[in-house]
Amino acid sequence: MSNKPKILVARAIFAETVDRLRQHFDVQDNPGDALWTPAELAQRLADKDGLLSTGSQRIDAALLAAAPRLKIVANMAVGYNNFDVQAMTAAGVQGTNTPDVLTETTADFGFALLMATARRMTESEHYLRAGKWTQWRYDMFAGSDIHGSTLGIIGMGRIGQGIAKRGAHGFGMKVIYHNRSRLAPALEAECKATYVSKDELLRTADHVVLVLPYTPEAHHTIGSAELALMKPTATLVNIARGGIVDDAALALALKDRRIAAAGLDVFEGEPNVYPDLLTVPNVVLTPHIASATVPTRRAMADLAADNLIAFFGGRGPLTPVNKI
Ligand code: DGY
Repeated sequence: MSNKPKILVARAIFAETVDRLRQHFDVQDNPGDALWTPAELAQRLADKDGLLSTGSQRIDAALLAAAPRLKIVANMAVGYNNFDVQAMTAAGVQGTNTPDVLTETTADFGFALLMATARRMTESEHYLRAGKWTQWRYDMFAGSDIHGSTLGIIGMGRIGQGIAKRGAHGFGMKVIYHNRSRLAPALEAECKATYVSKDELLRTADHVVLVLPYTPEAHHTIGSAELALMKPTATLVNIARGGIVDDAALALALKDRRIAAAGLDVFEGEPNVYPDLLTVPNVVLTPHIASATVPTRRAMADLAADNLIAFFGGRGPLTPVNKI
């Protein structure tokens, strides 16, 4: 009988990361990437000391009650709205996430989605693939400019700052932002970003990018009232979390052309997508892939593993999200 801590890896991850975990732990993994129900997850956690999770496992009081030995959940994601942090802390369970290693990759993607949205890239590609392109027209898929326009960022953490720098320094954009707290003056100067109220941002930005963490207070940060404040020529990009935008209200605003276009990487109730979003043409849709490059996903898996190794090695977690 091994006396190594027992670890459950909830989803398929890189084989090299699992091999490294096996050097320290007794590991049960999920190479077939089966989607376990909460009951199946609970059953597998009954004798485990640690869990390597992704954003798709809900860690709540019911699950914790079924996992009496559990001491740590290492999320392979920077966002951890799948954690009930209060319940975890009450149960003495450490939570960790994977900040920093995905910042630049995710900022790259946010910018790519913004450009694809403003320049109508997928809409025009679908038109071409459907064999509808018979002649050039002066206004064919004419979109809006990125360079020289006003970029409004809601949520100015590390990823928001990365997008601000790309916009200000790379594309000559005027950058305005809204955040729970204002950045230090040196950081504002580095990002060339000006703090404004949420309403002013929505009224004046040509492009609005959402990068704030999901919390109950952030639910439907953008709904019909906020969409009504935006310019009819504006674009909206959500790389934050599903639930930050009221997807039904957005689908209606896109259909009625109350805003020009949207780019969405995250959805309420994903992987389900609000059906009307699949039929409106002026939206670019991607399946929650903002951090999906091979090196970055590998770095995220490795950081989650490092958190488990450091924690059970008595060195404390590297990137904790709660204090136990
Ligand atoms: C994150 O890291 O939070 C990404 O959204 C992937 O889940």
